[in-house]
Amino acid sequence: MPVVVFRRNGEVYRDEVKENTNLVVRAGIKQFPYPHLRYECGMGKCARCACRVLAGAERLPPPNWKEKKQLGERLGEGYRLACQLWIEHDIELEQIEPLEQPAGA
Ligand code: FES
Repeated sequence: MPVVVFRRNGEVYRDEVKENTNLVVRAGIKQFPYPHLRYECGMGKCARCACRVLAGAERLPPPNWKEKKQLGERLGEGYRLACQLWIEHDIELEQIEPLEQPAGA
């Protein structure tokens, strides 16, 4: 089973998930990474769920059009929308808050 490592606010959360898992769907039913994952629409419209992929990015499918629209240049920095990812392998993600603020601000 895929192991998900989720980082936020200096904390590290780790759990196994079933293959083909969507982390926003899981959080919606109060399973890991609830309550740590920030999200809102679950449909690729708000970018609240944006995460930087620290490991495992090479095994993800290419970004879909919603991710391209929401993330723009941040795609090149390794960001993806968690609500648009179905996890099938080990992955490490980081959610930085707030995403809108430039690094170091
Ligand atoms: S939760 Fe809104 S874009 Fe993912």
